[in-house]
Amino acid sequence: MAEPILQVRDLVKHFPLTHGLLLRRRVGAVRAVDGVSFDLRPGETLGIVGESGCGKSTVAKLLMALERPTAGQILYKGEDIAKLSGRALKAVRRNIQMVFQDPYTSLNPRMTVGDIVGEPFEIHPEAAPKGSRRQKVRELLDVVGLNPEYINRYPHQFSGGQRQRIGIARGLALNPEIIVADEPVSALDVSVQAQVVNLMERLQEEFSLAYLFIAHDLSIVRHISDRIAVMYLGRIVETGTDEEIYDHPTHPYTQALLSAVPVPDPELSHRRERIILAGDVPSPANPPSGCRFRTRCWKARELCAEVDPPLAVPMEFAGLPGPGAHPSACHFAEEKRRVARM
Ligand SMILES: Nc1ncnc2c1ncn2[C@@H]1O[C@H](COP(=O)(O)OP(=O)(O)OP(=O)(O)O)[C@@H](O)[C@H]1O
Ligand code: SF4
Ligand SMILES: [Mg+2]
Repeated sequence: MAEPILQVRDLVKHFPLTHGLLLRRRVGAVRAVDGVSFDLRPGETLGIVGESGCGKSTVAKLLMALERPTAGQILYKGEDIAKLSGRALKAVRRNIQMVFQDPYTSLNPRMTVGDIVGEPFEIHPEAAPKGSRRQKVRELLDVVGLNPEYINRYPHQFSGGQRQRIGIARGLALNPEIIVADEPVSALDVSVQAQVVNLMERLQEEFSLAYLFIAHDLSIVRHISDRIAVMYLGRIVETGTDEEIYDHPTHPYTQALLSAVPVPDPELSHRRERIILAGDVPSPANPPSGCRFRTRCWKARELCAEVDPPLAVPMEFAGLPGPGAHPSACHFAEEKRRVARM
């Protein structure tokens, strides 16, 4: 297996919680990301999935150095991004680009498509000589399936799916190695989502890109991901290949998320057990003791409140090779086979 290009180790981001208007006293912290580790290899896709507020976008911003970590490391080819600044950081940033969730707000309405897609060349002029940029932008539009003749149009003249293609073209401009896509299709109609995901798959192949593909819905990432990490309240609770996560999940939270994914076959859908999680997601400013999922877990016992389960292959599976033996942060991990494949 190839060496990882990105190694994230025990990443932590706490946002201070303050009180008072004038004398802002620190009264606590929002533990948005609280000990996250994963690797990303060249050309692979890691899907990150979890409910709203679990820390997905904060992970993305930390990787892009738009936020600085409270603790932990983000190693890009062995070098810690969190420790870089100035020119060294700029050089790394060129290789890690982002595609944002909302193509309606992430494109400047007063800029033409040509200026939006060519903007990275203003920040990194060494990437393309001035005289060649217009032609490069045309090529990028063509690559993402847009008519290069549209180069002088404005974002409002495009549909949601087309706008996201513009966002992807901008992400490709500097020929990056990694694209962090934060819910790139969540704001789009279901019919358009598949087109954009297919485009991203084609581009991955064509440009040997590694993707960190963030979504809140497990059904979207399956198609594109080689591996998946499921997040809950600032932590990864289960991680594995698509087969391990979708067909052999062992963490109750993953099992609950999967039970909510629609199944096209009405007969199977009828037979399937739907797990409805009780209660709301606890505040990341005050996470539960022990296992963070215990306040909503139907299997919780005393041990769960006392001991924080590590993200590791559960003991029950350690000696058993097979798809159940993958990291799962649960004291009572067990396989729950799904009735249907997606
Ligand atoms: N700049 C900030 N200051 C304080 N709290 C923040 C800040 N950014 C994020 N948070 C908090 O951190 C937690 C994680 O937020 P984040 O945006 O990473 O979640 P998410 O998984 O991307 O959610 P969504 O699916 O809604 O996009 C939330 O409780 C959020 O309110
Ligand atoms: S450790 Fe306990 S509370 Fe947490 S997921 Fe497992 S059974 Fe549920
Ligand atoms: Mg988000």
